[in-house]
Amino acid sequence: MPSSQLRPILCVVGARPNFMKIAPIMRAFREEGIPAWLLHTGQHYDEEMNASFFRDLGIPEPDVNLGIGSGTHAQQTADIMRKVEPVMDEQNPAAVLVVGDVNSTIACALVASKKGIPVIHVEAGLRSGDRSMPEEINRVLTDQISDLLFTTERSAADNLVREGIDIERVHFVGNVMIDTLYYNLQSAKPVAETLAEYGLDPRIAHDPAGFALVTLHRPSNVDDPKILGGIVDCLSQISRDLPLIFPIHPRTRGRLESFGLMEKLASNRITCTPPMGYLQLLGIMKESRVVLTDSGGIQEETTALGIPCITLRENTERPITVTEGGNVLVGHDPQRIIAALGEAINHRRGEPMRPEHWDGKASQRIACILRAWLTS
Ligand code: UD1
Repeated sequence: MPSSQLRPILCVVGARPNFMKIAPIMRAFREEGIPAWLLHTGQHYDEEMNASFFRDLGIPEPDVNLGIGSGTHAQQTADIMRKVEPVMDEQNPAAVLVVGDVNSTIACALVASKKGIPVIHVEAGLRSGDRSMPEEINRVLTDQISDLLFTTERSAADNLVREGIDIERVHFVGNVMIDTLYYNLQSAKPVAETLAEYGLDPRIAHDPAGFALVTLHRPSNVDDPKILGGIVDCLSQISRDLPLIFPIHPRTRGRLESFGLMEKLASNRITCTPPMGYLQLLGIMKESRVVLTDSGGIQEETTALGIPCITLRENTERPITVTEGGNVLVGHDPQRIIAALGEAINHRRGEPMRPEHWDGKASQRIACILRAWLTS
């Protein structure tokens, strides 16, 4: 069937980690002649959390933006559902494609599935086993109502089968986030340039000890003053030996300010910045001696780059980053964080790892499967 006769796929983004995933998918759809519509829920909206990613990653301007903004989980999910329904009615898409595990993912999947529109989930089957994580609820429920499920690592299919999902609907295609990493690696912004941009001492990039990148935003780490206070003390201690670069997520900044912890971070060994764009953060990450984080995507990116990663969580939905990459899980206990850091910096920089199908071609595999599915 010629492309002009195909109905479009409605592709959904909402929050920062969605943007790196949708960019290569939209590109592959264009190359494969699959018509696509891009819908932005507006879950993230700041320049640093949103527009800078569209620019850096060359994502086309969304065809529609629901502009829902921040709110409680129920408000956010309900607002998206209410506002996306008329768009689906008007567009009558062949399918709705959602990525990842944010509130925009489950909200749009749920509306589509109740309307009988096929749901495609990219990054399906990841499980932390921790139902106190809002993302885990979003993952489990989205997978249950998806018609086609694309996975990033083999363990995901086992999780899906255990939950009663027909394996015929599951396709192991690899990691679209790593497609984006390879595509942009040469364009990453040099660290010294980034520091100069923030009016910071570019010599930090040449400290003989190297430097570490820190990112934190999980409610379990930042919403409790005792836990966040312990992490901040730990970062101060680490920074005596290793300078830190800490782009601060808006949720985290809000908590640091309201708990009166910002002053504790004021040190010329801790470089606090606003959230960074993709090419800036990639430039910092690829030169880091080690990364301390609670992000899911960064666990995968450090694996592909061969950078040791210390994850401030007790579990991960991305086990391949531990078994095949340099990721260790330490929770938020300062002693465990510091012990893991000692290990990481005493070891030589690891080799970049290429787990199966993390080869920059995951989006092409998705487009190829969807082309056949749309025309069958
Ligand atoms: C959301 C996702 C999380 C993802 C993270 C990446 C869910 C359940 N959570 O969490 O999986 O890892 O995004 O950032 O979907 N804010 C701004 N500007 C923005 C966006 C948010 O200032 O552009 C502030 C608002 O005060 C908001 C807070 O950050 O209340 C949290 O934003 P929200 O989208 O609710 O959740 P995240 O913590 O970002």
